[in-house]
Amino acid sequence: SRVAAVIPAAGRGVRLGPGAPKALRALNGTPILIHAIRALAASRHVSLVVVVAPPDGAAEVKSLLDAHALPERTDFLVVPGGASRQESVRLGLDALPPAYDVVLVHDAARPLVPVDTVDTVVEAVRDGAPAVVPALPLADTVKEVEPAAVPGEPEPVLGTPVRARLRAVQTPQGFDRATLIRAHETVTEDVTDDASMVERLGERVVTVPGHEEAFKVTRPLDLVLAEAVLTRRRL
Ligand code: C5P
Repeated sequence: SRVAAVIPAAGRGVRLGPGAPKALRALNGTPILIHAIRALAASRHVSLVVVVAPPDGAAEVKSLLDAHALPERTDFLVVPGGASRQESVRLGLDALPPAYDVVLVHDAARPLVPVDTVDTVVEAVRDGAPAVVPALPLADTVKEVEPAAVPGEPEPVLGTPVRARLRAVQTPQGFDRATLIRAHETVTEDVTDDASMVERLGERVVTVPGHEEAFKVTRPLDLVLAEAVLTRRRL
């Protein structure tokens, strides 16, 4: 079986604060997106990486890829993305050549995912799971609330799911290609990850162990943490 990775990188990244789109921000001098591409291409299973660029930024992303060293044995495609993460992933899937029957979807915003995590996801799909998500237990207790109309106002707590049954899920999420395409054709509700679309089809989704270094760079403090991880790796 052949494995392709789709990397949605079309988000604005407003929660990081003002500046360039998140995927183009630098970590220790290299754009977040380049770190993410290298992390996926580091897996010997992955032979194609499809990067989904901001809708008006495909040319810029192409020249970014040309300007950085990437593995020779991996093919790269750049396609323009859409208004939502979901639409960006679908546009990436549309660009996949037929030979690829396993698809990884990986957030550009998770630049430091270790190659062992990527390989574990691929192996679980190859072992027959139609959808696989890397997951970690939670440190925080989670409350369900009635969201306030005005941010910062007190919010009524509706309940507390049992923490031991909850998992924080990461990417890459891995899929049987046909299953993921059917999910994107069928599910129209807004979702925050691809596996939840497969869940809505009634298909089996399983977790494998995630990794703390696969965290999503979302807020300004995450940039500090990511650079610290990179510096530690070089030691
Ligand atoms: O906003 P969030 O951090 O959940 O975004 C997750 C990933 O989805 C990011 O890599 C972001 O670039 C991508 N995205 C996208 N197209 C959008 C919105 C987000 O590719 N329209």
